[in-house]
Order: sequence, then structure tokens, then C-alpha cells
Amino acid sequence: MSRRPIVAGNWKMHGTVSSVEQLVNGLLESELSALNCDVAVCPPALYVAQVQQLVADSMINVGTQNCSPFEQGAYTGEISAKMSADIGCKYVILGHSERRTLFAESDEVIAEKVAAVLEAGLVPVFCVGETLEQREGNETLDVITQQLNVVADKIGNDKLVELVIAYEPVWAIGTGKTASPEQAQEVHAAIRRWLASRSESAAAEVRIVYGGSVKAANATELFAQADIDGGLIGGAALDANEFYQICKAAG
Ligand code: PGA
Repeated sequence: MSRRPIVAGNWKMHGTVSSVEQLVNGLLESELSALNCDVAVCPPALYVAQVQQLVADSMINVGTQNCSPFEQGAYTGEISAKMSADIGCKYVILGHSERRTLFAESDEVIAEKVAAVLEAGLVPVFCVGETLEQREGNETLDVITQQLNVVADKIGNDKLVELVIAYEPVWAIGTGKTASPEQAQEVHAAIRRWLASRSESAAAEVRIVYGGSVKAANATELFAQADIDGGLIGGAALDANEFYQICKAAG
């Protein structure tokens, strides 16, 4: 079966009201709607409502970059998955390596967040990936399998089909070093085999996207791989034309 590609922009902690407006207007002027590709942008939470208004009549979907594992209550500073749903988001990025390392998020906390996002009716863009040290120690597949297992054990195999999985080698994020298409494909294929061991339909349907220094110049080669179904784009998502070119490479 063929999976519709998806490209999501992870804006991280970048932007101002005016730069957000400029970036989204640039995307709206491009021909994204002509592509066979789902497109999402994930701004900082404070700008989500602004982006929602701007993209309301377009095919661009909006997501958040994190959420609380809790539903509501006295959790100062937190934003729930239900709030992301309420404001009209479709996706929530979870388990990004920056959250794992800089904000000490464990596999268990991430699994709770994935469950909260599914409960809210949204699509988790669940990130996995190994560090350079782990890759050099030949631990890549063990690390990724562990990250995947904790989430699957929490949500149950029948829910796996609802995920988008992002493979993001930590050593390739924001470094300009991309995994080669072959290196990425090898891990994507392993993730799909892991999915098959849990759920045949998830193996067939789940989109596994690659992230880590994707740009227009390397996107076509990456997306040509059999098990790479799009990308999670950081730095290059802050430039409307570059992001459009990446979407074009996917769709
Ligand atoms: P990058 O970031 O494209 O800037 O490497 C990707 C990501 O962190 O999702």
C-alpha cells in the first residue's frame, strides 16, 4: 500500500509575531496544495492561534512541539493535549531529542504524553534516535527499539497505527550532518520490521519520517528510500521557499 508522505516543520523556539506572519504568508503563496503530501507546521505554542488563523483556508495543518502528560489542573506552565486539539491542531511532536536531553524527558514520560495525545484525538509525531556515541557503539537499533517498546507497551499495539514516527539521529540534528539515505533507510526499515512484529496494519500504514539537517538539496534522495515517508524539518522550515522545496521533494 502506498503511504501519503508528510512533511512537518518544527520551528522550535523561533519567531516573532511579524516573522511568523511573513513565514506563513510565504508558505501560502507557494503551491503546496498542488502536492501529494500532508504538510504541517509546529510553531511555538504562543503563536499557534496566529498560525491557525492564517492557514485556516489552506491545506496546511498545525501542530505543537510538546504537551503535558496531564489532562488539566494545577500544572503551572503546562499545556495539555486537549488544549492543542481545542485550538485546532492536528499533530503534537513528542520525544524530540532536545526534550529528552535538555528537559530530562524519560521514555516513560514520553509514553504518557503519547497516550494523552491519542486520547485527545490528535496524531503524535513520535521521535526516536540515537546519539553519535550510541551509533559508534553499534547500539542504534537497540536504543531505538527500547524507545519504541516503552511507547507501544503503554498505548497498546492496536494504537500504533495512529502514530507518525520520526527517526532523528541526534548527531544529525542542527549539525548540518545528514544521515546518508542508506543509513536512514536501514533504520527506517528496522522500525518498520519492529512495527510488523507488533501490528501488520501499523507496519503498512504508519509514516516513518526522517529528521536531521534535511534541506532542499538532500531531500529528494532521502525521500526516494522505500521506508522514508517524509521529513521532520527544523532549521530549513524557517525559510518558506526551502520548506516548500522539501515538501515538493516529498510529494
Ligand atoms: P534540523 O532539526 O532540521 O534543524 O536538523 C530537525 C529537528 O530537530 O526536528
